[in-house]
Amino acid sequence: MSALLLSGREAAAAILADLKPKIAHLDPKLVVVQVGDDPGSSSYILQKMKSCAEVGMRSEHRHLPKAVTLEELLAEIDRLNADADVTGFIIQLPLPAHLQSHVPSIIRAIDPKKDVDGFGAYNLGKMFLSTEFEHLPPATPAGIVMLLEHFEIPVAGKHAVIVGRSNIVGKPLSMMLLNRDATVSVCHSKTKQLASITKQGDILIAAVGKPGMITADMVKRGAVVIDVGTNRVGGKLVGDVDFDGVQDVASAITPVPGGVGPMTVCSLIKNCVQAKQRQLAKI
Ligand SMILES: NC(=O)c1ccc[n+]([C@@H]2O[C@H](COP(=O)([O-])OP(=O)(O)OC[C@H]3O[C@@H](n4cnc5c(N)ncnc54)[C@H](OP(=O)(O)O)[C@@H]3O)[C@@H](O)[C@H]2O)c1
Repeated sequence: MSALLLSGREAAAAILADLKPKIAHLDPKLVVVQVGDDPGSSSYILQKMKSCAEVGMRSEHRHLPKAVTLEELLAEIDRLNADADVTGFIIQLPLPAHLQSHVPSIIRAIDPKKDVDGFGAYNLGKMFLSTEFEHLPPATPAGIVMLLEHFEIPVAGKHAVIVGRSNIVGKPLSMMLLNRDATVSVCHSKTKQLASITKQGDILIAAVGKPGMITADMVKRGAVVIDVGTNRVGGKLVGDVDFDGVQDVASAITPVPGGVGPMTVCSLIKNCVQAKQRQLAKI
């Protein structure tokens, strides 16, 4: 079997083309705050700025020095919260070591109406209610859901197995798939007999950060495989899925790069549009 390639580049281009008229009309603005010079962050931010430019959305990259204090960063967040011209902003993670333990309070300081990364408790909590309340969902899980929709992959009644339970990918994705009537299993580093669970997945999502850890023998024949992992190996970007082996077993699979990555950027832009609409409607 040779699997259908679920191109995030293709899906994102189609979704962004649909959003373009709304962007022209609403004129939202995204600000990305970077602290320090993490090379991974710099390349993700470049991609975000590029995608915003392509779709005609205003964006600004605010670069703060690595040694910025917590108080200075919180003051910057207050300024962004108060600036009516800024629709949404994100604090690019990871932060330098001296700020890393403060991430929860840094995220809490962001006005939930401008939290376009959807990482704050308010937006995560709303997601628990139903699809109707997914107003600013976290970008990567929302991107995965949009990818499945774009390729008309049914979710209702399917067994979705997620490997990884982070607050930005695995956990919120489990809720979004549950909201769409999937039966969801979430695996993590303490899960016993991982392969026996992954092999049950009609949809298998890997969000671990371990290059090639999902091998063909862990995948149900005909499964849809979504690879969230982005790992640098010898200067090359690789996923958590052993693509070459798994594509022979799966019915559909995302590439890395060009799979989930472009969808994450796409849903960030979609969240900015959604945030602007809700700000104008004062809801
Ligand atoms: N393409 C994109 O847009 C995008 C966006 C976000 C993240 N990513 C990538 O996705 C990957 C995951 O990111 P993340 O932020 O979710 O990572 P994370 O916070 O490090 O979480 C990793 C998860 O994997 C689990 N895990 C680790 N080893 C495991 C094992 N041997 N078996 C089963 N589960 C295991 C961990 O379990 P415990 O909870 O028990 O520790 C944890 O839940 C990374 O490569 C990241 O770069 C890509």
